[in-house]
Amino acid sequence: MLEIAFAKAVAQKSGVVVVPLAEGAALTGQAAALDKALSGALKRAIAAADFTGKKDQQANLLAPSAALKRVLLIGTGSEEAFAARGAERLGGAIAAALSKETEATVLAETLDAAAAAALALGARLRAYRFDKYRTTQKADETPKLAKLTIMPADAVAARAACGPVMAVAQGVELTRDLVTEPANILFPEEFADRAEGLKKLGVKVEVFDQKDLEKLGFGALLSVSQGSARAPRMVVMQWLGASGNVAADGKKIKKPKDPVVFVGKGVTFDTGGISIKPAGGMEDMKWDMAGAGTVVGLMAALAGRKAKVDAVGLVGLVENMPSGTAMRPGDVVTSYSGQTIEVLNTDAEGRLVLADVLYYAQQRFAPKFMIDLATLTGAIIVGLGHEYAGLFSNDDALAERLFAAGKATGEDVWRMPLAPLGERYDKNLKSAIADVQNIGGGRAGGSITAAQFLQRFVDGKPWAHLDIAGMAWATKDSAVTPKGASAFGVRLLDRLVADHYEG
Ligand code: BES
Ligand code: MN
Ligand code: ZN
Repeated sequence: MLEIAFAKAVAQKSGVVVVPLAEGAALTGQAAALDKALSGALKRAIAAADFTGKKDQQANLLAPSAALKRVLLIGTGSEEAFAARGAERLGGAIAAALSKETEATVLAETLDAAAAAALALGARLRAYRFDKYRTTQKADETPKLAKLTIMPADAVAARAACGPVMAVAQGVELTRDLVTEPANILFPEEFADRAEGLKKLGVKVEVFDQKDLEKLGFGALLSVSQGSARAPRMVVMQWLGASGNVAADGKKIKKPKDPVVFVGKGVTFDTGGISIKPAGGMEDMKWDMAGAGTVVGLMAALAGRKAKVDAVGLVGLVENMPSGTAMRPGDVVTSYSGQTIEVLNTDAEGRLVLADVLYYAQQRFAPKFMIDLATLTGAIIVGLGHEYAGLFSNDDALAERLFAAGKATGEDVWRMPLAPLGERYDKNLKSAIADVQNIGGGRAGGSITAAQFLQRFVDGKPWAHLDIAGMAWATKDSAVTPKGASAFGVRLLDRLVADHYEG
């Protein structure tokens, strides 16, 4: 993990120094002092490299003095562009550019506390690695950046601003770790064990095993796990930051009051079941628990920064496998809500898991709102690609707040249609023999049909569904997210809570 420190700006004479420069800006403060100490080498390099400070532009001075190993000039673009998450992107760019250095210092006197914390966040998120299973990696292939010292206008204020931001980073990293683990290591029981780790943050964690779920009557969730050798789990996590009833041992906790509730799809591997998926790319289905992984990381973020909110996270954990005990297409199962479901395609399993967990969440917690996250449909990737998560909601105010939180964090959502029960897309869910069927007629509007199915298990209170199938992992590096699990949703929902539901 990248260590971040804030320090008062002093003259830099050795090591690796980063000089961020806005478009057309002159060297000031410590950057000007550095230039002077180097007899104008910085200014000469700026001219020689045609360095204008435009966004993402970089120029390197190697060994400009005996003690200075490197000076990295990095463009931050226009002031307006920089204000909108520019500091975070800058941090990401620095972490990427300096991955082969061990330590570096950033001259950031032009940054206020919030921007300095954002820079720290971006650097830390971009420096994330999952190296647990590499045993033969060569030293020159291993990123080395271990410490970044940032010198902002006010180091004390920046340090204070950075506290809650780093708690969110920790949540993101927890999610990325969970989502990256392969399915032979992370199956429902193991996932639940790891979620129990949140207890040390003051979160109450309850784990429901197969017997518990049978007793409750989770017929939809259990129909998915019945083909697997791995037993299912449901985990309920409660953070009572508003009621303030969190006991250190996580036990003597009162009931959450008017909580915000998050629900995650946790299919630790999705083969499709008897409606089996094609072999090509099936390995991607280890990511099919990203919704659940995000809910756990979000709870860690909220608890880690002691958010003044009562929040509940619930995850349904199953493995979807074909076997002699697996559910068949055409089977009818009884969900926790009492509604019967005709399962026409066993690969539309996420909605079966969510149906029971959503219904349980609203029965037990009377939420202010519920938001579920799920890698639910391939169709959302066809529709929105890898730029936006699909947002479906029965509540305009909640949808607008989510859209705004998306813009603020860069975890963007795009609203998709949702019709009232019995109308439009919902009509396609009419079953020949049960209350509802788990797929619509054909492939058309597949993400919407899936959302409509979920809505059958929602009582009409504010609810939003985020289809994150296109966002949960990335096949290439981006500003603050290295290739792999993105933890999309942790920052989005943390921001939603911070902006509207605290204090
Ligand atoms: N987990 C998949 C959705 C998915 C596909 C996520 C590709 C990420 C990448 C989900 O369980 C699924 O299989 N959905 C089916 C639904 C269909 C059978 C109605 C799909 O999208 O094909
Ligand atoms: Mn599936
Ligand atoms: Zn799935």
